[in-house]
Amino acid sequence: MAIISSKQPTPQQPEDSAVDSLVDLLSDVQAELPIAPQKGRRGTTQKAEKALELPTPTENELLKGDRSAEETQKQEEKIRPQSIKEYVGQKDLKDVLDIAIRAAKARGESMDHLLLYGPPGLGKTTMSLILASEMGVNCKISSAPSLERPRDIVGLLMNLQEGDVLFIDEIHRLPRVTEEILYPAMEDFRVEITIGKGQSARTRSLPLPKFTMVGATTKVGALSSPLRDRFGLIQRLRFYELDELTQIVLRTAALLDTPIDHTGAEEIARRARGTPRIANRLLKRVRDFSQVKEDGTINQSIASEALELFNVDPCGLDWTDRRMLSVMIERFNGGPVGLETMAASTGEDAQTIEEVYEPYLMQIGYLTRTPRGRMATAAAWKHLGFEPPAGGQLNLLG
Ligand SMILES: Nc1ncnc2c1ncn2[C@@H]1O[C@H](COP(=O)(O)OP(=O)(O)OP(=O)(O)O)[C@@H](O)[C@H]1O
Ligand SMILES: [Mg+2]
Repeated sequence: MAIISSKQPTPQQPEDSAVDSLVDLLSDVQAELPIAPQKGRRGTTQKAEKALELPTPTENELLKGDRSAEETQKQEEKIRPQSIKEYVGQKDLKDVLDIAIRAAKARGESMDHLLLYGPPGLGKTTMSLILASEMGVNCKISSAPSLERPRDIVGLLMNLQEGDVLFIDEIHRLPRVTEEILYPAMEDFRVEITIGKGQSARTRSLPLPKFTMVGATTKVGALSSPLRDRFGLIQRLRFYELDELTQIVLRTAALLDTPIDHTGAEEIARRARGTPRIANRLLKRVRDFSQVKEDGTINQSIASEALELFNVDPCGLDWTDRRMLSVMIERFNGGPVGLETMAASTGEDAQTIEEVYEPYLMQIGYLTRTPRGRMATAAAWKHLGFEPPAGGQLNLLG
């Protein structure tokens, strides 16, 4: 049961005025809504986004300050797809959601709770915003690190309206006490609050409107099973195919009034690690480059020249990916190497390695995980210009 520590009863506030305290508590809670703007997210994912940011902002860019941050945010919103139709790829996910949305609408009910998981930048937040707009409801956006205290989540829940989507990012990072408030909220649409302490403590069960919870996480394995089990739909987002990313680049370029041909878009897509956010980011870098160096349409040669300059190789590997692989090969003869050892040897954060770098390296077959640690595959050796060891050593499973 959720325990909310409220103010201690004072002599002027008799013990049985629990309802008054509740009203107090709720008004406090409403005054402190933790609805975080998307750009204000903290924690791993943000670190992760940072890790792949290209390039580091120049001093000049930094000096532009808040105004440019605001403009960037506006631009982000402009290029974010607004409907399922505009959302490229992820066919399985779209099919599942299309059915769920239509069925819920036909019944006049809210949709079942949905858990979206997958590496950063694949479109989890975008999909939950689309979901809310397709259902014709509001989407309240929050993130687990901003829901530290019980009153944060209670405030959020008490402010929901019938049918609303409540989006919680990085849901694997919810504190236990917050999670426990969510169990009855998700299952029975009620919130239980204990007012007062010790003998004067009373429990109130308050009804909530029917809402749809959408949780997003890059680490589905870190979710507790009681929480995971309360989601009716659990969907994985996968890396995008080359043609899907090419479409995304062409779409974004059109929205940004940037002339580009198909070869240019494909070159950017090829180096975007299967990730729309990176594709859009690379497009902006190439756009800057072509604006300064050339004029006219972005084509394959302009795109590849620009991306070489930004240290993104033809497979989309950046400096850190290559460093990780070369450390594994040169110092550990290709592995197996433990995650912590990798982190210490490369100076990268272990979580960032695990959540940001490894999924793509595994996807393209450059890295495998074995019971004894990570190994660079023969393809990785060749990509970095090394001769893979003879005798099938790379096939050893730990
Ligand atoms: N399917 C898609 N089609 C077109 N653009 C997309 C698609 N998915 C994502 N994008 C673009 O990529 C950007 C990143 O997507 P989004 O913020 O939804 O990722 P995320 O999965 O929530 O990432 P994180 O785990 O870091 O929160 C969006 O701004 C959007 O413009
Ligand atoms: Mg997100």
